[in-house]
Amino acid sequence: MTQTDRIPGQSSAAPALHMIDIIRKKRDGVALDAREIAFVAAGAADESIPADQLAAWLMAAWLNGLGLDETRALTLAMRDSGEKFSPSRLGKLAVDKHSSGGVGDKTSFLVAPLAAACGVAVPMISGRALGHTGGTLDKLEAIPGYRTALTLKEFEAVIQKCGASIVGQTPRLVPADRVLYALRDRTGSVENPGLICASILSKKLAAGLDGLVLDVKTGSGAFLRKMEDAEFLAALMVATAEAAGTRTVALLTDMGQPLGRAAGNWIELVECVELLRGERPVYSEDVRELSLRLAGWMIHFGGKAVTAEAGRALAEAALADGSALAVFMKMVDAQGGDVSAFDDPMGFHKPGATAVVEAWQTGYVTEMDTTTLGWAVQRTGAGREKAGEPVDPHAGILFHARRGARVAKGEPLATIYATTDAQLAEPGELLRGAITISSTPADDVPQVCRIFTHENAEKYLQNAVR
Ligand code: URA
Repeated sequence: MTQTDRIPGQSSAAPALHMIDIIRKKRDGVALDAREIAFVAAGAADESIPADQLAAWLMAAWLNGLGLDETRALTLAMRDSGEKFSPSRLGKLAVDKHSSGGVGDKTSFLVAPLAAACGVAVPMISGRALGHTGGTLDKLEAIPGYRTALTLKEFEAVIQKCGASIVGQTPRLVPADRVLYALRDRTGSVENPGLICASILSKKLAAGLDGLVLDVKTGSGAFLRKMEDAEFLAALMVATAEAAGTRTVALLTDMGQPLGRAAGNWIELVECVELLRGERPVYSEDVRELSLRLAGWMIHFGGKAVTAEAGRALAEAALADGSALAVFMKMVDAQGGDVSAFDDPMGFHKPGATAVVEAWQTGYVTEMDTTTLGWAVQRTGAGREKAGEPVDPHAGILFHARRGARVAKGEPLATIYATTDAQLAEPGELLRGAITISSTPADDVPQVCRIFTHENAEKYLQNAVR
């Protein structure tokens, strides 16, 4: 593809751009300017740049990295690559939460209703499973009838009615990310801070948010496992979103084990509805705690609490009085979902095949290699091998032990729900290889490791050597 920019009224034109030159430049480690970056984003969005060239560029960007200016330019160009949502008619501040991706990461189903119940508008545009991580849309579609593909008009109507709506990208919202995201998934070019930042933020900024709460994962199940990489991503996203005019915070949180006790589709929703009903299942405390903290920031950014701590107290109250549960059910109903499926959630749960993995020795669970556990979940049928494949709503893994738990030989460690009997063996093997049982307990890992706001993010980036 070639492009020549003409400035009206002037005879001279900017030099033509050629994708091959842009690929070679990035391959050789030379920084691209904003015009070149915009050319790539526009060519991805209208599919005028062929997939092989985009894939080569993505790999060059993955290997050589994107600088701060390149990342900012890519984020804005992707944001502007299609239609946008304007929350101005909602009459409330609009705040969303986004996670960089994890296993059993289900906080959206809690924070959206919690913040909405406290008077914040939550326009949440979510994604599908990527790599070893689960996808919010795949989970919601486990509810019979739930529609994730709404028009922007329908999206606005649901938020007006319920305070929150969780949907997928429309075909015209950030089309550049739709194309690049699918290519990254297929070409091993997901785990790069600049690409992740632009992918996540372009969608969030296209939703016209007043505030954004980012949950950046670190540890064995995160895309960026090393703490310093996750810190860099968190600071990068905060600084990029703030520069674009959205108040943003990033909580760096542990993904060194699945979040909560369920990882899959329907079973994750069940865990959330139990929490919204005020139940306190034994291995769900981490999801509850993290959701309250994230919701606290959303409520603060939404202008309903002077601090994030005060916002958290409001979120606790919305959990205790059932108002968050009411918002969740109203939203499901408004999006066509059959709420009666939650009357007896485990009765509704109909996996094709079930197996229990038992502890092979007595001791403490000291490590859970969460990326491997994520792939185990995907192999049950809960995730997809190829883009566009259907997922099994009832597949997944329920964990009966977590890091730090003492287990006796023969005790259940996890229950695997798969589509067919043939799909039980591989997840079982992966699971056994991913969990370490030792004779001595491991040290505790804090759930929230660090917080970035506009105050420390820029400074961190200036000092970071990349
Ligand atoms: N989520 C996204 O939307 N994009 C990424 O690149 C990673 C997680």
